[in-house]
Amino acid sequence: MLTREENELLTRVERGTPAGELLRRYWQAVGVAGEFTDEKPIKAVKVLGEELVLYRDKKKNYGLVGEHCPHRSASLAFGRVDEEGIRCPYHGWKFNNSGRCLEQPAEPPGSTFKDRIKHTAYPVEKLGGLLFAYLGPEPRPMLPRWDVLAWEQGRRWIVIDSVIDCNWLQPMENSVDPAHLYWLHGDSAHLAPIVRDYDERHEFSCFEYGIMKRRITPPKKSGGQLLIDQHPLLFPNVLRHVAPYRKDGGFRHNLQIRIPIDNTHTQVYRVSFVPCETERSPADADAPFEYSRLKTAEREYNMKEVSAQDSMAWETQGAITDRTREHLGIDDEGIILFRKLLKEQIEVAQRGQDPIGVIRDPDKNRIIEFDVMNERIGLHRPSNSVLDQKAVAS
Ligand code: FES
Ligand SMILES: [Fe+2]
Repeated sequence: MLTREENELLTRVERGTPAGELLRRYWQAVGVAGEFTDEKPIKAVKVLGEELVLYRDKKKNYGLVGEHCPHRSASLAFGRVDEEGIRCPYHGWKFNNSGRCLEQPAEPPGSTFKDRIKHTAYPVEKLGGLLFAYLGPEPRPMLPRWDVLAWEQGRRWIVIDSVIDCNWLQPMENSVDPAHLYWLHGDSAHLAPIVRDYDERHEFSCFEYGIMKRRITPPKKSGGQLLIDQHPLLFPNVLRHVAPYRKDGGFRHNLQIRIPIDNTHTQVYRVSFVPCETERSPADADAPFEYSRLKTAEREYNMKEVSAQDSMAWETQGAITDRTREHLGIDDEGIILFRKLLKEQIEVAQRGQDPIGVIRDPDKNRIIEFDVMNERIGLHRPSNSVLDQKAVAS
């Protein structure tokens, strides 16, 4: 249980709030590169409570600027792009992707007024088909080259979920809540054979990039074999896991990136990568993408889909769930650990230091691979894994 003040501290995302300032220390996904075309080069986006416009100019460079023009506040979402930058639809002021005002057509020739205008602008980088922006203080860290985004030998694609109507912390707490798999997702096809016989234990440990979560199914419930499912929460708002890939009986490696739109709405991007010999997906190329509708109307969830099952649970907890009313049990250990880590890292950021997982060393950022496994579906621990059965069973 949290106090009302603690709940506010951990959930609020606007600039100047403790969690909002922490989240701004990390690159955040703001769009999918493939959505931007010559016909549709501009999109309004809201991230961490800030109203912004993401665009691709005619030189195919991306920019993320404040939505409202600093002249008289018309929306740049209805503007047009030039060779470089974006032009306001109202009186034609033009801005580049670092927020400099390049032109003010109605001002007299030789005017220096434009040089005194600095519009909100954030750096944008593309990786694995996603566009990421950094909204925090300089010097900016490196955009993490997580494996699912940076691997090239295989197939990558992106799913853009419909907006989830709740605070970002609910999906993230769900990522350190392994017990829900059986009950919320148990009737989904790939879990059905094992769901009826619940017996497992869970372990959580902090590591360099967040929290590693481990689900251990004892031999007596899994045909004489101890089975481990292990994957990380990448702090603060990403889940890395692995799932069956039904088309070929293999696996797909996944990232679920949960972006706070504002305090009560969250945008989830799901990136999948299937390693295979016959296909290449360059890390700097656009990736194919699709949209997913999690519900058809208020409280009408597409409950056949695992993602919709999750979003039902998160949304029905409340827009910002009231954690003064909860009753956490022994198996909520992961949630307690995550909140503790979040509080600690808020304080680290408040001291002006880099919180966990922020990367500044290029040698650490070639490709960041994780020790992910899911033995229930046949993705086994590597032969040199320290997780030998004896160690885990003890
Ligand atoms: S409001 Fe944008 S140029 Fe006037
Ligand atoms: Fe789930």
